[in-house]
Amino acid sequence: MVDFEFTDEQAMIRNAARDFADKELAAGAAERDEKEQFPSEEIKKMAELGFMGMMVPEEAGGAGMDTVSYVLALEEISRADASAGVIMSVNNSLVCWGLEKFGNDMQKEKYLKPLASGKRLGAFCLSEPEAGSDAVNQRTTAVRDGDIYLLNGTKNFITNGANADVLLVMATTDKTKGAKGVSAFIVEKSLPGVIVSKKEHKLGIRSSDTAQITFQDCRVPKENVIKEEGFGFKFAMMTLDGGRIGIASQAIGIARAALDASLKYVKERKAFDQYLREFQAIQFKLAEMHTNIEAAHLLTLSAALKKDRGEKFTKEAAMAKLFASKVAVDCALEAIQIHGGYGYLKDFPVERYLRDAKITEIYEGTSEIQRIVIAREVLGLK
Ligand code: CAA
Repeated sequence: MVDFEFTDEQAMIRNAARDFADKELAAGAAERDEKEQFPSEEIKKMAELGFMGMMVPEEAGGAGMDTVSYVLALEEISRADASAGVIMSVNNSLVCWGLEKFGNDMQKEKYLKPLASGKRLGAFCLSEPEAGSDAVNQRTTAVRDGDIYLLNGTKNFITNGANADVLLVMATTDKTKGAKGVSAFIVEKSLPGVIVSKKEHKLGIRSSDTAQITFQDCRVPKENVIKEEGFGFKFAMMTLDGGRIGIASQAIGIARAALDASLKYVKERKAFDQYLREFQAIQFKLAEMHTNIEAAHLLTLSAALKKDRGEKFTKEAAMAKLFASKVAVDCALEAIQIHGGYGYLKDFPVERYLRDAKITEIYEGTSEIQRIVIAREVLGLK
């Protein structure tokens, strides 16, 4: 059994994130959601606190913290604002991590440093109109032409897409090789031929930006290949292992918010001359929500600890995301039920929690994909 007594530093980071979330994020979250307004100022402040490159060493521009601290901070941020949570998760897990792990000195100096310090924002471009769960099916092509690659294709559902400065883009360099013919590129968003072709309007996490990005004869310097040609699919899968810990943390934050709102409501609302908290039917709901949140938290910490120890954590990350995302949806639904008719109104935050929770069962691998990943590991097929 893993000992989850947090170090002083981990507890301090969690408290700092909680404080920031309560004071700076919570109050404006509903309005930003309504207006689909990107939390630019809030993200700037999160960068100042070191939250945009938490696991990157200090000499490379980051905060030099471990994954456990990251999970604790991301839960707190997402409890107040799940949109800020996913912006933070993508920059940390899907962008900075891979550059730190596989980038060369030039790439780390030029791209990782400003991304990890939060001076610039990153996005991860894997999904395409015809490559979602079936991520190998990449249609975007990168054709070598002397010192550059010519990039053409369309990427879908790109979190941070419109606001990002730097994109990590997966593209096919050799169609005949399947997964081994996919390569990963660092692409400056300001390059000619990078077009934000559509801004999506979403059910939830509405103040995070999700965009379609099209590449039209975009000339990417050959130095911007990550590691080597053909490494892109493995790179994406390894990156997503860590990303799934981030989304699990985001889901737990949403679930906690749903429980907190419910705990507050049942102490204020009376029916049949009793506070709601006195009804056993309500107590059972709260007990179940609390238990499931704790279980999701422990699964996620267990995946984070494995990652920090340098062990393989593919299965643990998939289990954490699978479970935590379901807990988030279930808790948000129960919170609405506890609030009754009020839960269905925009006057209370619980309807937003449900809308925000649903995406955690979809992005960075649907729950069905997580089950495939877990089953393969359990059966020893991988
Ligand atoms: N770590 C390292 N390597 C891995 C890996 C992992 N976790 N998973 C797969 N690979 C390797 C395999 O070992 C294999 O390499 P070899 O041939 O050398 O053994 C290669 O990658 C191909 O893997 P598979 O044969 O398993 O490929 P597959 O076609 O069966 O697909 C899949 C596997 C698990 C279904 C994968 O396609 C997948 O995860 N799909 C979901 C994609 C996803 O999560 N998309 C999210 C988009 S990003 C997003 O949402 C971000 C956002 O903005 C919030």
